[in-house]
Amino acid sequence: MLSIKDLSVGASGKNILNGISCAFESGKTYAIMGPNGSGKSTLVQTVMGNPVYAVSKESSLIFDKKKLNSLPTDKRARLGIGITFQSPLSLQGISVFQLLRLAMKNVDVLKLHVRIEALAKELKIKKELIDRPLNENASGGERKKLEVLQMAILNPSLIFFDEIDTGVDIDSLKIIFSFLKKIKKDKTFVFITHHNKIFSYIEPDEVLVMKNGEIVKIGDKKLVQKIEENGYEDM
Ligand SMILES: Nc1ncnc2c1ncn2[C@@H]1O[C@H](COP(=O)(O)OP(=O)(O)OP(=O)(O)O)[C@@H](O)[C@H]1O
Ligand SMILES: [Mg+2]
Repeated sequence: MLSIKDLSVGASGKNILNGISCAFESGKTYAIMGPNGSGKSTLVQTVMGNPVYAVSKESSLIFDKKKLNSLPTDKRARLGIGITFQSPLSLQGISVFQLLRLAMKNVDVLKLHVRIEALAKELKIKKELIDRPLNENASGGERKKLEVLQMAILNPSLIFFDEIDTGVDIDSLKIIFSFLKKIKKDKTFVFITHHNKIFSYIEPDEVLVMKNGEIVKIGDKKLVQKIEENGYEDM
C-alpha cells in the first residue's frame, strides 16, 4: 500500500530522517515508537507532503503504485492518506463542519451535518465543539477526539495517528479506541505512541522503532513490552 525507500529529510538546514525504508501493507496495524526527537512526526508530515520538509532526490514514496514525491498534500489526501496531528492547531473562523464540507463537496450538506452530529455523539464530543471554530477553546483531549471524527468522515484507507493517546483520559481513550475498532475494517492504521496502553485495544501486526532519524528495529507486538521494560538505550 505505502512503500518508503531511502527517505532522507531535512529542515532548516538540519538532517532529520536518514535513509528510512519501510512498507505499510493494506489492512494491517502498525506501531511506530522511539525517543522524543527521533523523527516520528517528521516521517508522518513528510508522507503527507508538508512543504517544510525537504526530501532528498533518491527518496521514493509510493502509495498504491502512485509516486507521491511531487504531489501536494491535498492530492495525497484524495488518494486516501490521512493523518491526525500530535498537537492539533485551532482554525480561526472555520468550524469542523465547514472544514469537512469543503473537503466533501459531493456529499449532501444536510446528510453531512447529521452524520457529523451522530459521530460526535458516539465519540462523546460536546455539540458546541462542532459548531465553534475548529479546536477553539478545546482541551487537549477534545482536540484528539475531533481529529478522530475528521478521519471517520474523510475515510482515508491509510491513517497515521500521531500520538492520538497523548493527553487523553482513560475513559476517553476507551471511547476513541472502541470507535476506531469499529471503523477499522480493511483500513491500515499506523499508531505513533510512547505508551503500550493503546495496544490492549488494537494489537499491532508490526512495531517499528525509530532512533536518530533511522529505523533501528522492526518486530512484532512483543517489542512493545520490551520497550516498556528496557527503554531504547540498547537499540
Ligand atoms: N521544521 C523543523 N525545523 C527544524 N527542526 C525540526 C523541524 N521539525 C522537526 N525538527 C527536529 O527534528 C527532530 C525530530 O522531530 P520530530 O517532531 O519528528 O520528533 P518525534 O520523534 O515526533 O518526537 P516526539 O516523540 O517528541 O513527538 C527534532 O530534533 C526536531 O527538533
Ligand atoms: Mg512527534
